[in-house]
Amino acid sequence: MDCILMHKNVPVADLQLDQVTGYILRVREILAVSHMPVGVPVKRGVLDRAALNGWWIDRSIPASRSGVRKAMEILGLENPQMLLTRCLGLSLSDQYWMKPKGQDIQWEDVNFFDHPFSEDIGDLLLGKPVGGKKMDFQTPDNTSDGFLPKQWKILHGRRCLLKGGSAPFVQQPFNEVIASRLMERLGIPHVTYSLLWDSGKPYSVCEDFISPETELVSAWRVMQIARKDNSTSVYQHFINCCRKLGLTKVTRSLDQMLAVDYLLLNEDRHLNNFGLVRNADTLEWVGMAPIYDSGTSLGYDKLSGQIVADGFGDRTECKPFKRTHREQIQLISSLDWLRFDQLMGFSEEIREILSGAGEYADPARIQAISTAFEERLKHLEELALTHRTVADNPANDVEVDVAADYTHNMNL
Ligand SMILES: Nc1ncnc2c1ncn2[C@@H]1O[C@H](COP(=O)(O)OP(=O)(O)OP(=O)(O)O)[C@@H](O)[C@H]1O
Ligand SMILES: [Mg+2]
Repeated sequence: MDCILMHKNVPVADLQLDQVTGYILRVREILAVSHMPVGVPVKRGVLDRAALNGWWIDRSIPASRSGVRKAMEILGLENPQMLLTRCLGLSLSDQYWMKPKGQDIQWEDVNFFDHPFSEDIGDLLLGKPVGGKKMDFQTPDNTSDGFLPKQWKILHGRRCLLKGGSAPFVQQPFNEVIASRLMERLGIPHVTYSLLWDSGKPYSVCEDFISPETELVSAWRVMQIARKDNSTSVYQHFINCCRKLGLTKVTRSLDQMLAVDYLLLNEDRHLNNFGLVRNADTLEWVGMAPIYDSGTSLGYDKLSGQIVADGFGDRTECKPFKRTHREQIQLISSLDWLRFDQLMGFSEEIREILSGAGEYADPARIQAISTAFEERLKHLEELALTHRTVADNPANDVEVDVAADYTHNMNL
């Protein structure tokens, strides 16, 4: 299949795609180096095809997504990559797409920001009955990332992402709401999540924070623009890459993210769960993306006893920079911005939100979560009083950065 990789209306590369596997077989010609996806290197006019394939295949639904295997069986498809070209690779998180060669279509004719899209694939992925109907594949659900079940929908004219939780506590949607309220109080730029129940299951709902003029570039992609040597920490490498792109003021945003992730004991802030926003027309960098995907936190899969016993998260997974939260909060350069008085009564708000979970959260669990939060808050306040910068040591860096795997408790 002959295609042109497009960035809005800019032709980026002339390619040959394998229709069966979805892989890029050949790059015939590079048409606009500057619009190449971030982190895909072009050296002396030669494009790294493996890196471009990595980027392209990463656009598809991860094979580990809850419910994806069953959905592929129903669709009679070998893998989710095969869905990519069915929607021209269009997404609601960036502005790339694949135009079949020879077709006279513009980005304005097809993009999902301006045009409605089908809910068929999203319904199927959420396990809803789709009967024997002919499926409409025009949907950004074909290009959505992440392990949790999710679906793009147009609600009140706005593009929104609905996201479920994992068994047994389905706590992630509630955590997203808690995280939003926390960041609202602290004035931290964030994506606002609210709660929605559908067929007895809780979902978080957030609006698309990307517009037709912007796009999200994950930290992982940003960090591919330069090689990291062993003496440079992951944290420093991210800062260096941002600097190389002209963004010199990301420290405050990182401080805020690390503080929030500690307070909520986030276990899954991997390198695709934060990033930068750039203007897709001018290629100018806007800044760090508002904080999104904070749901894998607050002991989401743990029992009450474990939540209390590990209040400071010494035995809880930590990403993206350090192996433990204690080490990771040492990277915070300043907590001057954190007005602790604005968090007065926040543990009560946590209890209130979690009590909405009904059968999924019993009173002991809710109490454990809010008590552990209070302890961390107190700890962070003490740290703020005595705060000094500690030398960053790559020896205690995260070794592999992969998304949380919920497959052990995914029966929703
Ligand atoms: N509000 C949004 N606007 C635009 N893009 C979004 C938005 N929310 C999420 N995304 C994109 O969708 C991807 C998946 O969403 P999200 O990270 O919330 O899902 P997840 O299943 O919790 O992921 P993970 O596997 O990290 O747990 C994100 O990495 C991001 O690229
Ligand atoms: Mg995510």
